[in-house]
Amino acid sequence: MLKKLFSKSKKGKHSLEVKESLVSNECLPSHIAIIMDGNGRWAKKRAMPRIAGHHEGMQTVRRIARVADDIGIKVLTLYAFSTENWKRPKSEVDYLMSLPQMFLNSFMPELMERNIRIEMIGDKEGLPSNTKKALNEAMEKTKNNTGLILNFAMNYGSRAEIVKAMKDIMVEVDDGKLTLDQVDEKTIDQYLLTSTLPEPDLLIRTSGEVRLSNFMLWQLAYTEFWFTDILWPDFNQDTFLEAVRAYQQRNRRYGGLKGE
Ligand code: FPP
Repeated sequence: MLKKLFSKSKKGKHSLEVKESLVSNECLPSHIAIIMDGNGRWAKKRAMPRIAGHHEGMQTVRRIARVADDIGIKVLTLYAFSTENWKRPKSEVDYLMSLPQMFLNSFMPELMERNIRIEMIGDKEGLPSNTKKALNEAMEKTKNNTGLILNFAMNYGSRAEIVKAMKDIMVEVDDGKLTLDQVDEKTIDQYLLTSTLPEPDLLIRTSGEVRLSNFMLWQLAYTEFWFTDILWPDFNQDTFLEAVRAYQQRNRRYGGLKGE
């Protein structure tokens, strides 16, 4: 992993300097999920409109995708728009919906160069057509990439996801394709939008808020949580690596005893 970092730096493409002690190869989280919060407050502190905070937040997405890729994270899930975010003023919603297109257009050459695959979870059909098109095109273009999966949660709500999974399972039972006895935790995993992904190992939430806000409620059952007061636009590679290092010092027990 460190070799990868340094060889990339040598090429002059990425100037990230990571000390050997900062993040080791040991116990690297496979899947990191992030609740990106604090764009609005970041903008307010600077007397700027909220959308300026979201724009800056998009630049942070780019920086964090790079560092996640550099250190060998397999999946990075970013909570970009929740099913509750539709309650915001239309102008803000419109701006948030324009971000995937803006981001994917400008970042696509680097995504391809880095072998990053774009994925999304959420109700795609509820998205405006331009947003849907940008995501569909990026998913199609990057579908054979085998590196980091950059997974956007857009129009995502965990309870709605669980309700849909339950309904789909009930239909299967009704049709005789599944028996009631066959329905276990694995079955539910398979009917969630994350069925092809490993469960998150680490959840990060920025901006000092300490709640899940309807994010991956099922999938986060054994995830380690890491909270910071830093606002998302100020979140950077160093803070990301600090969270990874904190994760590496945790002792995950999954309900068992220490050392098991
Ligand atoms: C919550 O902070 C953040 C959001 C609802 C949007 C997050 C979106 C991004 C960081 C950009 C996403 C980028 C792409 C490419 C899709 P908030 O705005 O509610 O902040 P506040 O709590 O300080 O008001």
